[in-house]
Amino acid sequence: MTAHATISEVAPRDGLQSIGPFVPTEAKLVLVRALYEAGLRRMEIGSFVSPKAIPQMADTAEVLAQALALDGLECTVLVPNRKGFELAMASGAQRLGLFMSATESHNRANVNRSRAESFADLAGMVREATAASRRLRFNLSCCFHCPFEGVVPEADALDWVERAVSLDPWMEVSICDTTGNAAPDQVARVVGHAVRAWPAPDGSCRIAFHGHDTYGMGVANVAAAWGAGCTVIDSAAGGLGGCPFAPGATGNVATEDVAWLFRRMGVETGIDWPRLLVAADLAAAIPGGLPGGRLRAVPAARKAA
Ligand code: COA
Ligand code: ZN
Repeated sequence: MTAHATISEVAPRDGLQSIGPFVPTEAKLVLVRALYEAGLRRMEIGSFVSPKAIPQMADTAEVLAQALALDGLECTVLVPNRKGFELAMASGAQRLGLFMSATESHNRANVNRSRAESFADLAGMVREATAASRRLRFNLSCCFHCPFEGVVPEADALDWVERAVSLDPWMEVSICDTTGNAAPDQVARVVGHAVRAWPAPDGSCRIAFHGHDTYGMGVANVAAAWGAGCTVIDSAAGGLGGCPFAPGATGNVATEDVAWLFRRMGVETGIDWPRLLVAADLAAAIPGGLPGGRLRAVPAARKAA
């Protein structure tokens, strides 16, 4: 049986959110459609956050309305608080991506409140969303390293993962390396523990991994997460990305690098390689973006396309 990995494409959200110049809605849609053409069927389209905090995401509702017309695409929108939740529930997005941080300082910098406040609020949303049969993802930022507190003790990160998984037996929980500072052994231990300890009721994996490539460890960390049994991986075409509230962190691990990794390992992703390179070039060319990744520059990978 061929192994299958799910890539959740985050360029339209994590990839764009730090870019200064506003990317016109139509340009965002061109990117979403190119990624869809490349075979990606899960995508973070945007976030319902304060437009003062993240001006780039102010047109999420418009982008989402168009993305929902793409047959078979599962659209995720990020939600930090009650207001975002209400907008997301009304938006028709198939999946809500709730988020908070595993560290107190980053949670305060990112969403202006304590972890306890965030968690209590998000827990209520999990109950409501599951009662309404909406798919969920619970993102825990800074599970390995925090820009303000440094390396996160593994037991602390796993404590937050345990709290999140306890909210609902089916909910996907994402362990995020927001600053890209994690190393593969750390990823293998933390993700591996979560995968083994908290499977979905049918035994399938419900832990996702979200990594950045700041220190060049992006692909190695994805390989470590996959090796530890994690089957849902976030990445951004062109290696775009960065959190405006995580100083020094750069782009997400590039989708084309992750797709190549899986292709070489014989793992099915549903991605059309030539079309993915088209989408990655498009993402990397967005004015104001800081692209990354290796594969776009490899002549042999171009030839394979
Ligand atoms: N969507 C849109 N607007 C929102 C909002 C949401 N989810 N939540 C709050 N607002 C608006 C309020 O209506 C208010 O607007 P006003 O000034 O015009 O009255 C303003 O934002 C402040 O509201 P408040 O509840 O006091 O929020 P805050 O200033 O404490 O900020 C967050 C909290 C969560 C809204 C803000 O920090 C945020 O959006 N963070 C997102 C960070 C992010 O996306 N990081 C990257 C992803 S990891
Ligand atoms: Zn990120």
